[in-house]
Amino acid sequence: MEKSLKPYVISNVGMSLDGKLATVKNDSRISGENDLKRVHQIRKNVDAIMVGIGTILKDNPRLTVHKIDAKTEDNPTRIVVDSRLRIPLNARVLNKEAKTIIATTLKDTADKTEKINKLKKIENISIIRTGFEKVNLKELMERLYKKGIKKILLEGGGTLNWGMFKENLIDEVRVYIAPKIFGGVMAPTYVDGEGFKTVDECVKLKLKKYYPLDDGIVLEFKVKNKIKYK
Ligand SMILES: NC(=O)c1ccc[n+]([C@@H]2O[C@H](COP(=O)([O-])OP(=O)(O)OC[C@H]3O[C@@H](n4cnc5c(N)ncnc54)[C@H](OP(=O)(O)O)[C@@H]3O)[C@@H](O)[C@H]2O)c1
Repeated sequence: MEKSLKPYVISNVGMSLDGKLATVKNDSRISGENDLKRVHQIRKNVDAIMVGIGTILKDNPRLTVHKIDAKTEDNPTRIVVDSRLRIPLNARVLNKEAKTIIATTLKDTADKTEKINKLKKIENISIIRTGFEKVNLKELMERLYKKGIKKILLEGGGTLNWGMFKENLIDEVRVYIAPKIFGGVMAPTYVDGEGFKTVDECVKLKLKKYYPLDDGIVLEFKVKNKIKYK
């Protein structure tokens, strides 16, 4: 039987000391100039950058390499996980600066069929369909690997991070922690979703490296355990 292979996944975020990815009003100015350069350096060294549709709708990022010296060829493929195809046709992630893969489900609706037809007309866009209610992240990883995507930078947000941790698809974690407290039960955190019920089940990490940057600190970890989430 063929062994299923997946890309190596690095999860990176910038967060406040209380673990928030943005404030309750979605202000996500967390990183300083040097941290942004650090992130763009990782972007330059991976095959793809992946985000959830929540991040696209809230932040409208370009997901290219532009904070450091780079050419258009240095831009990795962008992957957006979007079950219902809520991505706006004018989203910046659909610009011509890089390829974009939209991962969506097999569930069909009239709106979705129309949207797929429109997206297919945009240069550099391709669509992968897997799962029914939500994108099947495990299968998505296997299909991306077969397309030659061997290293992915996962850039959130909290809901997609949970989906990826839950399925044990993350290999490495890098976080920048800013000396700021955002508070707010509704503010997005590094990992949202349902959460693990016990410490036995949770994802365990091994600290590999840490260093001060801007006015905060960067921590790097390897994921230690192979969890089985029920
Ligand atoms: N500070 C940072 O480093 C950083 C980085 C990124 C984002 N952020 C912040 O994070 C926030 C956005 O986070 P978010 O949690 O709202 O959105 P998100 O994690 O970017 O996207 C989540 C969405 O992905 C879709 N999805 C499809 N299949 C999935 C699956 N199997 N597992 C999980 N999600 C799946 C779901 O929507 P559908 O069902 O409709 O597909 C889900 O609601 C924003 O405030 C943004 O500023 C901060």
